[in-house]
Amino acid sequence: MERVRVTEGKTSFYAPVQDTNTQFPPGSAPIFYNPRMEANRDATVLFLSAVRPSEYLDAMGATGVRGLRVAHETGVHATINDLDPAAAAEIRANVEDLGLDAEVTCQDANALMSSRRFDCVDLDPFGTPAPFTDSGCRSARRFLCITATDTAPLCGAHLKAGMRRYWARPMNTEYHGEVGLRVLLGFAARQMIKYDRGVRPLFCFAHEHFVRLHLRVVPKVSAAEETRGRIGYLLQCPHCFYRAEHPGMFPEDRTCPRCGAALTPVGPLWLGAINDLPLLEEMEALLPTMSLGTASYLGRLLPLLRTELPTSSFYDYHKVAKRLRTSPPSMEVMLQRVREAGYAATRTHYLGTGVKTEAPLEVVEAAVKGENTEK
Ligand SMILES: C[S@@+](CC[C@H](N)C(=O)[O-])C[C@H]1O[C@@H](n2cnc3c(N)ncnc32)[C@H](O)[C@@H]1O
Ligand SMILES: [Zn+2]
Repeated sequence: MERVRVTEGKTSFYAPVQDTNTQFPPGSAPIFYNPRMEANRDATVLFLSAVRPSEYLDAMGATGVRGLRVAHETGVHATINDLDPAAAAEIRANVEDLGLDAEVTCQDANALMSSRRFDCVDLDPFGTPAPFTDSGCRSARRFLCITATDTAPLCGAHLKAGMRRYWARPMNTEYHGEVGLRVLLGFAARQMIKYDRGVRPLFCFAHEHFVRLHLRVVPKVSAAEETRGRIGYLLQCPHCFYRAEHPGMFPEDRTCPRCGAALTPVGPLWLGAINDLPLLEEMEALLPTMSLGTASYLGRLLPLLRTELPTSSFYDYHKVAKRLRTSPPSMEVMLQRVREAGYAATRTHYLGTGVKTEAPLEVVEAAVKGENTEK
């Protein structure tokens, strides 16, 4: 196997050379390494530097890059696992080369997470984390981190696969990226609450072809109840941009107050905030002190997440303008007009033309057109 030395953050390690002619990911190399996931790993190194767990499990290590970086750059003790013996050997070689005090295991992640608990558990599988989420919930003492790269099933482009994996029905809307994140978060929450433990989302975002969740586990019935209360549906009009949030186990039968169409339930999914604002501030303060390859991306992402309203969907105001056959104003003007009408309005990290607001659709449309709708 041909290997190259790669550096991410402050960590140098060996990774197999990928054949650029084959489909990537997973690529042709016997052990997986995707440099495009550096932002995802940087985010975790930054997160762990702020929350400082007592130990960390990288349940699907491949080259081990994630766990290697956590151990080397944050000093948190890491256990790095992979089912594939060739990957485990590569991880061992990398651990030795870096002179790290890290444990390497070669087990099925579900078996490992069913037999041992870790302060922080990290799931980074190929595609869907659904088969690993239950054991991850049982193994994680305080923190659970999850990556999903199966954005098509999560967001509604592959409807049946999404229903099988997450028992949720997404819908391909203009805010489908947000639906994908919230379907995954709702699924993880449902997996957790059956153990009478709750989850608090700390740092969650979607980027390119992945969703990344960093969650706090709270081992109390009251926290599990609070978590249950955050699961529900978005009721989306199939014909216009109207939507409403609906917490609870069952979606409501409702019609669109604007056009009379039957609203389509989207979910179950997580409703409400997906980030912990004081933690984001702490991470923003730490960022300049760290050596992260994607620091400029994270430097833009964190303030966006911090200011993003906790609505469960957003409007693509360019699409609203197109439907109204008018040309859209600039984002600044758009936000200003909604605020002048008496409602909070923010950008969103999911989409450059996305607007988060609790303002009714009429206000959003008036803001797009430049009409005065002051409350
Ligand atoms: C997407 S890769 C991990 C990437 C890595 N965390 C990184 O940041 O580069 C998924 C890995 O999971 C391993 N894997 C697949 N099934 C597994 C299982 N049941 N238990 C543990 N590892 C598994 C594969 O061998 C593969 O190396
Ligand atoms: Zn409608």
